[in-house]
Order: sequence, then C-alpha cells, then structure tokens
Amino acid sequence: MRSLMDPLDLSISETYELMRTADDIIENPAKYAHACDGRILATLFYEPSTRTRLSFEAAMLRLGGKVMGFHSSESSSVMKGETVADTIRVVSCMADICAIRHPKEGAPMVAASFASIPVINAGDGGHQHPTQTLTDLMTIHALKGRFDELTVGMCGDLKFGRTVHSLIRALVRYKGIHFVFISPEELRLPSYVRENLEALENVEFKEVSKLEDVIGELDILYMTRVQRERFFNEEDYVRLKDFYVLDRKKMRLASPDMLVMHPLPRVNEISTEIDSDPRAVYFKQVKYGMHIRMALILKLLNITVD
Ligand code: NCD
Repeated sequence: MRSLMDPLDLSISETYELMRTADDIIENPAKYAHACDGRILATLFYEPSTRTRLSFEAAMLRLGGKVMGFHSSESSSVMKGETVADTIRVVSCMADICAIRHPKEGAPMVAASFASIPVINAGDGGHQHPTQTLTDLMTIHALKGRFDELTVGMCGDLKFGRTVHSLIRALVRYKGIHFVFISPEELRLPSYVRENLEALENVEFKEVSKLEDVIGELDILYMTRVQRERFFNEEDYVRLKDFYVLDRKKMRLASPDMLVMHPLPRVNEISTEIDSDPRAVYFKQVKYGMHIRMALILKLLNITVD
C-alpha cells in the first residue's frame, strides 16, 4: 500500500505516468467516470482549505466514488482530544483512501504509519504539499511542454510557503534548472532548503529582493501569498503582506511566454488586472490539479482503466 507524503515518494517516471493518465482523463473523461464506483475518499482537514479539499472531492466524484470528511478541527473529535493516530485508525475502517491536511509538520506521516489505507499529505504546516506540486508540474507539462532548462522565479513567502518547498524538491530532479528566489529578507528560504540546494551541482540559484530586476529572465513566475497563519505577530504580517504586487507595469518587463502561476488563494500579490493576460495561468492550474489528483487516486488504489 502506497501513501504520498513528499513529492519524492514518486519517481520521475511515476510522475510522468500520472501526467499521462491525467492527459488521458482530459481527453476521455467518460472512460474514467466509473473507475472508482463503490470507493470512498475521506478528507481530513484540520486546517482551512477551499481548493485542495474541493479538488480532492471533485476528483473522487468524477471517478464515480464518494467522499466524506471534516473541514476543520472544530467539527471533528479533535475537540474531544482524539489523536491523529486514533482518528486514522477509525477512518481506515470506513474509507478506501484519505487526504489529510494538518497545521503540524509531520502529522500526515504519523497518520500514514497508523493507517491501513493510502494516505495523501494535503499540506502539513510550512513543510510539504506534494499534490500542489503535482498540480504545478502538470501545469508546466501542459503549458511549457518541458521541465529541463527552465528559469523559475519563486516570489513572496519562501520561508513558510510549503508549496514552494515541495516544488523545489521536485524540480531539482530535472536538468538545467535555474531558480531565482525573490523575497523580502525576513521571508527567505529556510536554511535547510537552501543548504540542500547548495549541495546540488545541477542546480543554480540566486536570491534577490526586487521582482522588477529579474522578471525579464524568467520562464515561470511562481507567486505566493504571505502565509499569515504562520506568523508569530500580526505587525510583521501587515508590514510584509504587500511587499510584492504583480501588476501590468511589471508584466511589461516579462517575456511574452512567461507563465504566471500561483497555488491560490491570492490576496494582494497579483493585481486582478493581470487575470486577463494570457500568461496568467493560475485558474488553469486549478483544473490541472483536479485531473492530476484523479490520476493519483487511481494509482494509489491500484485501479487501471483500459
Ligand atoms: C496553498 C497551501 O495551502 O499551502 N494553497 C493550496 O493548497 N492551493 C497555498 C496557500 O495557502 O497560500
């Protein structure tokens, strides 16, 4: 039985296989409409989410399966003091697969060690978010057609942004990746992420604070929200939240085929005037996210569709 905790739990070829399945799902949705008949996905969300939870639910429903779960700690037995270990043992008796989001780093790993069903990490604190990474890879695969030789700018909250940490982990496996990390001093990458990158010979990176200085070099600009819920005080959040605002003026400096990606939700970091720019692909990303999650559910349940 397989679980997904970290993007590296899937090899490069398995990741391609998922993207191929997702491509086929997009082409032939009817073929997959009953692939999960009779199966249940549980969504255990101990932290707020709109997109990720609904994306998992939509994925399972489009495969013919059913969904159940909770969407906040307040609406579950956590309030009575139940541990993640016990909750997952209970859920294992009822569901066939589960997706779990938790504010504590490592909680999904604990769940996976007590589960008798596949467990998917749907985001653990500021740590990892492997299915957002699959979403991001699927978007790059569909719209850029390659992973090699890309200059990828990541902008915003690189300290707390788990989507950034996971995407870096996945992209360093490809050839000729250049990263440009754009953040205020206080929100730079955690040192463990930077040290891992320094140890790699195939990856180049630089850290800057001004988006305008580097936007013209990028193939992809991955914008992120300042992660308010992970700040220790509100003053720091207020000071940093509008540090970057991507607007038309900045987009004029970018290449005509640069992609603007964002895991969403967006706050102020991308002006809505960009939404109609063909380079803005963050809403397309949402659709790719659902398709790749469909492929992932099939893989983890060992279901093949001919
Ligand atoms: C991201 C997350 O939860 O980490 N959202 C998502 O899953 N699409 C990004 C964020 O909350 O800023």
